[in-house]
Amino acid sequence: MSQEENNKELDPTKVVSEIKEEENSLLLPHDFDGIKELDNPAPRWLMYLLYFTIFFSAVYWVHYITFKQGPSQAEEYEMEMAAAKANLQQQENVVEIAALTDEASLAEGKKIYSEKACYSCHGQLGEGNAVGPNLTDAYWIHGGDIKALIEVLTNGVPAKGMAPFKDQLTAQQIQQVASYVLSLQGTNPPNAKAPQGEKAM
Ligand code: HEC
Repeated sequence: MSQEENNKELDPTKVVSEIKEEENSLLLPHDFDGIKELDNPAPRWLMYLLYFTIFFSAVYWVHYITFKQGPSQAEEYEMEMAAAKANLQQQENVVEIAALTDEASLAEGKKIYSEKACYSCHGQLGEGNAVGPNLTDAYWIHGGDIKALIEVLTNGVPAKGMAPFKDQLTAQQIQQVASYVLSLQGTNPPNAKAPQGEKAM
């Protein structure tokens, strides 16, 4: 490279003038009190991003608004709130399990006791018979608190001939009949079967 050419390349005025030239070619014709604007296009990637969002919004509109193929945001909100509420309800139910003592619930439990033929294995008065244990004494094979009774009634003890009732009774009905059984404690019916299991505290 000759000395002259080298100088030419490094000539700062040349570079500046080139920039000026490029700038001039980008100048837009308007002029606001001496403030001028260059026609500087947005970078290509940004334009593609813009085109993509336009395309996406069109697809979104057709899918969610024209043909209603998916839940709207409001519906999604409702669904989530309902699910959360159900979840909360379930947790409360678990916490609130207690033997029911009101007349109506016990009457309902008594009705279930006869409708589901609990008497066939536990006796009319819960005194027990050749098949099922006495439900009126303080002795329990599986525990004598409401939770233990609900567990036995829900899942049964299939190996010992006690059927699960979860498919035949609602959770509320199971609670009612379990409460009714607990209300029989100490009733001392005739022909009571000998105690089985552990004495409840
Ligand atoms: C087909 C006979 C049969 C029927 C019907 C039946 N049970 Fe039982 N039940 C049993 C047997 C047998 C056991 C003892 C299970 C064991 O030994 O583990 C039992 C156990 C129980 C226990 C637990 C007793 C303990 O000592 O822990 C409860 C409570 C109970 N049954 C309530 C009911 C109720 C309420 C019904 C009606 C909804 C019912 N059962 C219907 C046979 C039956």
